[in-house]
Amino acid sequence: MAVRIAGIGTSLPAKVLSNQDLEATLDTSDAWIRERAGIVTRHVGGITSQLGIEAGNDAIKAANISADDIDLLLLSTSSPDQRFPGTSAQIHAGLGLNCGAFDVNAACAGFAYGYVAAYAMMMLAGGPKRVLNIGSDALSTLVDYDDRSTAILFGDGAGACVMERHEQGELLAFDLGADGDLAPILYCRHGGTIKMAGREVFKKAVRAVAGSIEATLKRAKLTPADVDVVLLHQANIRIIESVCTRTSLPMSKTFNVIETTGNTSTASIPLAMQHAANQGVLEPNKIVLMSGFGAGMTWATLVVRW
Ligand code: COA
Repeated sequence: MAVRIAGIGTSLPAKVLSNQDLEATLDTSDAWIRERAGIVTRHVGGITSQLGIEAGNDAIKAANISADDIDLLLLSTSSPDQRFPGTSAQIHAGLGLNCGAFDVNAACAGFAYGYVAAYAMMMLAGGPKRVLNIGSDALSTLVDYDDRSTAILFGDGAGACVMERHEQGELLAFDLGADGDLAPILYCRHGGTIKMAGREVFKKAVRAVAGSIEATLKRAKLTPADVDVVLLHQANIRIIESVCTRTSLPMSKTFNVIETTGNTSTASIPLAMQHAANQGVLEPNKIVLMSGFGAGMTWATLVVRW
């Protein structure tokens, strides 16, 4: 038994914030942001629950099923609408689901963590047959728009996938990691805004993601040449390039949306997945590698046979 992705859905808020918009209020430039981060526009003004409902609805439709067919909702987010109940409860109500629901917070690695957790639960006897795995974040609600080091990077969005028990879609290997000593380089306190030591995060992220990818491929007994599609967390195009260089994965296998979305945190991998699906590359038996990293620090890599 394995688990396939039966449907993907996404949502981005309508409001677009361009580099030119940021130039008007910050000591920055379109050229600097493009060159140092690979971002041109990002979407803002979102609400985590609403984006999650839209993406979830989309994924359910794409899977050709109804809300009643979902056996479990797993939401990853680090920008919940409130302390409690979990934002998964609001999404549960908005989608009219009839199943369990819970939140996961592994920051930008949330979707990849959620994928592994959902997969494991689906393997249990009597476990869910279909899980709606949603990553939704509205980081614009946590950004200090006077801080040029973070205001240029983050945007809002959600991505969802219906994971379904099937004979195809094997999880070949995974790696989950965390280093809580690195919490001070990227955090957001209750009621506060995002604080980040950008250069440090950059260096630690490249090292952690590259190591995690190498460990995962080794466990799967695969080489970089075996991988067909690479879906990396969309934080900075230079991080993606550096990871590819270190791991010998060619950039041509990566599918990226960062230019138009910025860093949408846990939503970025499913957004990149939808982009890859639109290009027609997510075909059965393709080897797909996903890797996310974020505050914590946390990181998670998985390699699946699609
Ligand atoms: N516009 C123009 N100049 C800026 C700037 C901006 N938005 N932000 C920083 N600078 C300046 C700095 O002040 C510094 O100036 P100085 O040399 O006079 O001191 C110079 O640009 C270089 O700063 P540095 O921080 O070394 O830039 P960088 O190349 O590391 O790029 C980030 C900054 C934030 C884009 C980059 O470090 C990054 O993406 N880090 C990872 C962040 C991340 O992924 N976070 C989310 C994790 S999930």
